[in-house]
Amino acid sequence: MKTTVSLIKADVGGFPGHVSVHPDLMDVAEKELMRAKAEQLIIDYHVLRAGDDLQLLMSHSNGCDNKDVHELAWNTFKKATEVAKDLKLYGAGQDMLSDAFSGNIRGMGPGSAEMEFTERKAEPIIAFMMDKTEPGAFNLPIYKMFASPENTSGLVIDPSCHNGFRFEIWDIMEHKRVFMNAPEELYSMLALIGAKSRYVIKRVFPKEGGKLPANEPAAAISTDKLYQIAGEYVGKDDPVALVRGQSGLPAVGEILEAFAFPHLVSGWMRGSHNGPLMPVSFENAICTRFDGPPRVIAAGFQLSNGRLVGPMDMFDDPAFDYTRRMAQEIAEYMRRHGAFEPHRLPLEDMEYTTLPGVMNKLKDRFRYIG
Ligand code: 13P
Ligand code: 13P
Ligand code: MG
Ligand code: MG
Repeated sequence: MKTTVSLIKADVGGFPGHVSVHPDLMDVAEKELMRAKAEQLIIDYHVLRAGDDLQLLMSHSNGCDNKDVHELAWNTFKKATEVAKDLKLYGAGQDMLSDAFSGNIRGMGPGSAEMEFTERKAEPIIAFMMDKTEPGAFNLPIYKMFASPENTSGLVIDPSCHNGFRFEIWDIMEHKRVFMNAPEELYSMLALIGAKSRYVIKRVFPKEGGKLPANEPAAAISTDKLYQIAGEYVGKDDPVALVRGQSGLPAVGEILEAFAFPHLVSGWMRGSHNGPLMPVSFENAICTRFDGPPRVIAAGFQLSNGRLVGPMDMFDDPAFDYTRRMAQEIAEYMRRHGAFEPHRLPLEDMEYTTLPGVMNKLKDRFRYIG
């Protein structure tokens, strides 16, 4: 039996500002998904929140890009938007960029990560959800999980991981993709994915001839680039990812270890600043300080014939206290740069800018230096 797991998210209104999701929106989502489960469109679900993003995690047997499942997510976000409007939440309907559903939620504003695969005897799966950052924020941790022997000792010592993995990388500016093999093409691959604002890991696959089917992904990441969809800034993308673990894949502990270093990502205040990615518990997934720092939560499950057994709040653990402390120090260090790069993003990556207006005012005062 093949199971599909779909994680679809949207910011349909922040509470207050861009900090969190109001519980009433979670209630709407809970009600809609409960009904869909009763009607057997989906097998199981969990409603979660990461910062101001409402997260719908669903399992079903309809495959990826299923019209009915996407429409369910779209209609749920629509209904939550109505409640958000009534409560006058901040940016109600922020990510709902189309007026009507047109068959697939991709390109309509919400973000999605989906994968269909054959359930193994035991199927651990982790859902990662980030707020105040962009899809490229997943490049470093996904690279670490599936390609770095420093992070994943299984790549070195587990014969079923030793051949490495195949990466699907998207150029999100030109809407092209390339498949690359690790470790064979590692240096070339890093040339791309190190430039995380443009080249984004979309999926990771087992290789041919291994323990697992090579066409069923081990990881999938949302790559929806909101500002390119909308043609103007409507908020950072706040990506999500699904990662399967164990038995020929990185162990759950290797998957989580990839977040033990709070790397710098772009996003944070007004989507225009670099800051550390802080792994936190569900309860602490609120973006307060300078609307951040950017955060990630991890919900762990065992899949059982489509049933999502969980969630386990994976970063609710003192083992990540040191990472959080480091993130706090880095946040303080970066904040002290104020309006200066590299805290503020370079001009071409900024989502807001007053520069054209400033330049317009100064245009008659600029003189060639000679
Ligand atoms: P698997 O062989 O199931 O991946 O287990 C390895 C493990 O759990 C090491 O932490
Ligand atoms: P969100 O993308 O999470 O809505 O945040 C936008 C923002 O401007 C934060 O300061
Ligand atoms: Mg918001
Ligand atoms: Mg958000």
